[in-house]
Amino acid sequence: MKILVMNGPNLNMLGRRAKEIYGEKPLAEIDSLLKKQGEALNVEVVTFQSNSEGALIDFIQEQSDSADGIIINPGALTHYGFSLRDALADTKLPVVEVHLSNIYAREEWRAKSVTAPIATGQISGLGWWGYVAALQILVDKQQEED
Ligand code: DQA
Repeated sequence: MKILVMNGPNLNMLGRRAKEIYGEKPLAEIDSLLKKQGEALNVEVVTFQSNSEGALIDFIQEQSDSADGIIINPGALTHYGFSLRDALADTKLPVVEVHLSNIYAREEWRAKSVTAPIATGQISGLGWWGYVAALQILVDKQQEED
């Protein structure tokens, strides 16, 4: 089993950016935590971050044929990234959308996600634990279906 863990614009700044909202953990630490979790679950975890919507779409198109699921925090693209949404939908893979912060408890414009309707589900407001939960859920779900 192979899971893609993707992060969009500005998430490379985790640990330095608005720590009171996004927490102290740098993205590299979250990624390595998920890779370790993947090893324990016998799942390959491939991580990718980009500040560009096009690069995220290229990665999805290159990797999705050999993947079993996608965990994605699209950053602000959540709220307007229609091309990203289409690329995710085209994969037909289970997608879990993750947000470190609770997007429903912040500015009004953050409460709208254009990617959530094509996602299997969304985890919002649980910090980096959201990624961990998402990985466990995708693996459990796949095993239940096998
Ligand atoms: C975010 C929420 C978005 O609104 C914001 O633009 C981000 C991070 C989160 O993880 O809480 O970059 O996706």
